Amino acid sequence: MDQEKIIVLDFGGQYNQLIARRVRECGVYSEVLPCDTPAGDYADAALRGIILTGGPNSVDAQDALRCGMEIFQLGVPVLGICYGMQLMAAMLGGAVGQAEVPEFGFTDMTCRAHPLFEDVPGQSVVWMNHHDRVLALPKGFCGIASTAHCVHTAMADDARMLYGVQFHPEVNHTAHGARMLQNFVRNICKCTGSWRVADTEGALIAGIAAQVGPQGRVVAGLSGGVDSSVAAVLVHRALGERLTCIFVDHGLLRQDEARQVMDYYGGKLGLHIIMVDAKERFLSKLRGVIDPETKRKIIGAEFIRVFEEESAKVGADYLMQGTIYPDVIESGFGKAAVIKSHHNVGGLPENVRFKGLVEPLRMLFKDEVRALGEHMGIPHELVWRQPFPGPGLAIRIMGEVTEERLRMVRQSDAILRQEVARAGLEQDIWQYFTVFTGVQSVGVMGDERTYDYCIAVRAVTSTDAMTVEFAPLPYELMRTLSSRIISEVAGVNRVVYDITSKPPGTIEWE
Ligand code: XMP
Repeated sequence: MDQEKIIVLDFGGQYNQLIARRVRECGVYSEVLPCDTPAGDYADAALRGIILTGGPNSVDAQDALRCGMEIFQLGVPVLGICYGMQLMAAMLGGAVGQAEVPEFGFTDMTCRAHPLFEDVPGQSVVWMNHHDRVLALPKGFCGIASTAHCVHTAMADDARMLYGVQFHPEVNHTAHGARMLQNFVRNICKCTGSWRVADTEGALIAGIAAQVGPQGRVVAGLSGGVDSSVAAVLVHRALGERLTCIFVDHGLLRQDEARQVMDYYGGKLGLHIIMVDAKERFLSKLRGVIDPETKRKIIGAEFIRVFEEESAKVGADYLMQGTIYPDVIESGFGKAAVIKSHHNVGGLPENVRFKGLVEPLRMLFKDEVRALGEHMGIPHELVWRQPFPGPGLAIRIMGEVTEERLRMVRQSDAILRQEVARAGLEQDIWQYFTVFTGVQSVGVMGDERTYDYCIAVRAVTSTDAMTVEFAPLPYELMRTLSSRIISEVAGVNRVVYDITSKPPGTIEWE
């Protein structure tokens, strides 16, 4: 991965991951680093440009995040976004202060002809999110865009290759934002844009082999999710039989899921996989537990215990994790090496003495993991499987988890999956599942009064699970779901559709 790269220096903005993703979409490898990373750590022959992100600070605040002055003297182009632009202006002798009128949301912008704005109309809509703004440009800069309330919406010092934009080109709401970033990457940083995630397979496999050495053994906990699957196939290609996979059936899986997972991994993918039937252990630990966080903690802790016991039998030196780049960024960079806590297991082994972690996907975004998985020939259904939480159906059952409630969620979920497939909507919906609401209500069935449970259907559209909308399911599908669930799932007499978006809701109910 030591071909051309663009470094994104993180000042704490909400959209920072998106910047690196957009740059990679232009075919250039990009990494996010803490804003105060010394330039010496990344300024090598591969460096083509630097992007300074947005952030919540004001540049003159006491604890304002800053970067080193040397980055403006490296001779590579630098683009400051929002706070990044203000910081660049302040550090280079301009003036920054509070705007009389802060700008938030869609804003009309007028821009001049400039390589940064190639193929961008003179008038376009950008996404703003700022209180402060650049009041006076530093020496050497000229203004290249403005809005009604912000004279210096974009600035450029072409001689030193330094640029700033007050708006956020990385979010889709900026009409030509992707094009502007592409202009920066191609026109200004002069990148060829030849990086493709599929080309990294060989390097990732070689990296695993080098890390683990000729004798080392790796153990992996598999969940059936795309990340751990792609990671395991990479490790398998590097080490063959020296990888042992463990699949823990905690009894909180969907209908037929355990069998399917075993068929895929052991069969189609040819991995050495051990299934642990721990259903009883988990259910007895969950007996009488109602509080969602307690449930999650119990499941996480029990998972670790089971995994520790099983992996001790395997005697591996390394633990594989399906950690992906957003996890690394979100857990605060360097600290991520401690192993993050949420990855499908809800916690991690502390008592097993591993020499280290094997995390082949730690520099890849989810869509890149999928692209790599497809390229490696992993079955399409597995690569595009909808996300399934580590604590499984337990967080889709309000209140205590019992066999009977698991049955109702499983059966209704299976009906939902069948009907979504029949309607040909599997690829259009990000996630869809049913929830045991715990609510009982009165109904009539066959002239008899019923007092049975209510099942909620949750189906959402999203691109990243950070924000979601409820999916506009076709009326016919809803009608079929309602009648099938009520007639086929004993104990259910009512079906409701969850029309909550996120925020303020979450995808899962617990
Ligand atoms: P929420 O409910 O927070 O979920 O909107 C966002 C995404 O994360 C999944 N999720 C989890 N995944 N372990 C996981 O591996 C968990 O504990 C967990 N909780 C939620 C959820 O299904 C959705 O895709």
